[in-house]
Amino acid sequence: MPRRVDTVPAERFARAALDGLIALARRYAHPVVGLPTGKTPVGLYGELGQLAAQGQADVRTWRPFAIDEYVGMPNHPCSNRSYFSRHWNPISGAATVAQFDPEAADLEAEATAFARRLAGAGGLDIAVLGIGLNGHLAFNEPGSARNSTARIVTLHSESRASAEACWGDDTPTRGLTLGLAELLAAPSVLLLANGAAKAGIVARALRGPISADCPASFLQEHPDVTVVLDEAAAAG
Ligand code: GLP
Repeated sequence: MPRRVDTVPAERFARAALDGLIALARRYAHPVVGLPTGKTPVGLYGELGQLAAQGQADVRTWRPFAIDEYVGMPNHPCSNRSYFSRHWNPISGAATVAQFDPEAADLEAEATAFARRLAGAGGLDIAVLGIGLNGHLAFNEPGSARNSTARIVTLHSESRASAEACWGDDTPTRGLTLGLAELLAAPSVLLLANGAAKAGIVARALRGPISADCPASFLQEHPDVTVVLDEAAAAG
């Protein structure tokens, strides 16, 4: 079960998430941090940028790795690469995020190479995770095995529907993702969720049966998960 669950009002969500991340990062001299995209961590990255600019947070020792990417079009404004350019790169002192090459000719080989690069860094120390409406972690969709590793995946319809809000007609059908094995091998996990739409899946992930039907439910078996929720996401 998670070590702790913090539930905060919506306006304090980003700061509480950031405080959680900074507390975890202090445990490591050079933390290897897996970073999610999506709406959930936007405020966290913004607050981290403000603190770093004021000299109150120091990310210079952090080694950031993206946890997933859409296949194709890395320069599209909705790609994770573009997302990190907007939300991560402006953070003072932040190292460039290591990322999948979604245009690689051999995507399976690219996934394996990325996993090797992460392993070369010592693996994740901290996995920062959002949660998909269907319980996915990164792009580990329902049906993903607990021991799945970095690979190319087909996005489920719920994930494509969420992506469509940004990508429109260009919505990718496939993604590259770290597997549940690499994510859950991180000794520290920070799970973030906000908004009423996440209440049902958060409850299922944290209290429901542990099964590949809801990949986030495997977090129940992880020894050190910090969960930060806003009140709406905690309602279930
Ligand atoms: C996306 C990403 C995940 C992210 C999740 C939630 O598709 N693959 O890494 O955590 O879905 O996104 P959001 O924060 O926008 O709800």
